[in-house]
Amino acid sequence: MYQTSNTLSENIRTKSAELLNRHLAAAIDLHAQVKQAHWNVRGPAFIAIHELFDKVADAVEGYSDTIAERAAALGGTAEGTVQVAAKRSFLEQYKLGVADEKAHLAAVTVALAGFGDSARKAIDEAAAFGDADTSDVFTEMSRGIDYQLWLVESHLKP
Ligand SMILES: [Fe+2]
Repeated sequence: MYQTSNTLSENIRTKSAELLNRHLAAAIDLHAQVKQAHWNVRGPAFIAIHELFDKVADAVEGYSDTIAERAAALGGTAEGTVQVAAKRSFLEQYKLGVADEKAHLAAVTVALAGFGDSARKAIDEAAAFGDADTSDVFTEMSRGIDYQLWLVESHLKP
C-alpha cells in the first residue's frame, strides 16, 4: 500500500482495495461482455438494442473507473489489465456466436444481475470492516446496475 494522509487505517484500506479490485475485474469483464452483445446482436429490434447495449457498456465503463480510482485513492494499486480481469472475474463466461437478440438480452441480464448481486453484498462488506465511503461507492454502483438491468430485461418480459 502507498502512503496516504487518508485517516482510514492501512488494514481497512487494504481490505477495501481487495474488495474493489475483485469488482474491477468483473466490471472490465462486464463491459467487454456488453460490447460483445452490442457488436453481434441481430433481430427485428436491432438498432434499439444495439444502441442500448452501447449505453449500458458506457455506464459500466464509468463504474470500472470509479472502482479503480477509489482503490488508488486509498493507496492501493488498481489491477485493471484485461489479462488480470479475465483470470479474476466472477461472472459467467459469455458465449461467442450468439446473434439472436433475445439470447443476448438474456445473457446481458444474467451478467448485470450477477455483478449487481456482488456489488450489493460489497455494500455490507465494506461497511462491516469500517469503510463507509467504499460502501457508498458500491451503493451508487448497485443502484446504477439495477437501472441498467431494468432497461435490458424489460425487453424480455411484459
Ligand atoms: Fe459501437
